[in-house]
Amino acid sequence: MAEILVIAAHPTLEHSRASRALLAVLPPHAPAAADRRIEVRDLYALYPDYFIDVAAEQQALAAARLVVWLHPVHWYSMPPLLKLWLDDVLAFGWAYGPGGRALHGKDLWLVASTGGDEASYRPGGHNRHTFDAFLPPYEQTARLTGMRWLPPLVLHGAHRVTEAALATHAERFRQRLHDWPRWPGLTQVEANGRVDVPADARPTPG
Ligand SMILES: Cc1cc2nc3c(=O)[nH]c(=O)nc-3n(C[C@H](O)[C@H](O)[C@H](O)COP(=O)(O)O)c2cc1C
Repeated sequence: MAEILVIAAHPTLEHSRASRALLAVLPPHAPAAADRRIEVRDLYALYPDYFIDVAAEQQALAAARLVVWLHPVHWYSMPPLLKLWLDDVLAFGWAYGPGGRALHGKDLWLVASTGGDEASYRPGGHNRHTFDAFLPPYEQTARLTGMRWLPPLVLHGAHRVTEAALATHAERFRQRLHDWPRWPGLTQVEANGRVDVPADARPTPG
């Protein structure tokens, strides 16, 4: 069990440029350079049938202090298996709601890539909004589960950036993981307080 848990979700990793470059600096691809504190869970490799081992995921999460979501942005959001992972693993009464404090006090870091370049994520660009405008569901998920939301690391225009820019980005990612939690300014990022979700906020099973 590791204190940094990277949850990677790319439906076609064999065709990926950005996610693959980032995963290449982590175990098991870079064992010598890698920090032993890191565990990578590649959801599409673990669960090609979409049948998620909830107990195994919760066990890995419980041990972690930093949770990283690494994925390409698909339709302004996350790939479907990561969304299913949230639905199944971040359970009511475990991650939130009465008694649900398993993730409380952990950090959550989004590491994402987009096809749209920076100019497209502006008013007047074809995505019309800044990239931050698409993040409230992520931030609120962090808040509801008591995790601290760290400033995301985003690579825009991922299929067009130069090899040098991609390598710089991957190195920045590796260094940040290595340095965590000693990031400049991190002490100023507010921890999330407790959010009480009442027992009747979700239907009773059965
Ligand atoms: C189904 C699908 C949906 C996508 N939706 C978006 C999107 O909403 N916004 C965007 O900027 N790029 C979008 N893209 C582009 C991907 O984000 C981009 O190809 C990816 O970040 C590149 O990373 P990779 O090299 O790891 O695949 C989409 C790509 C696919 C396949």
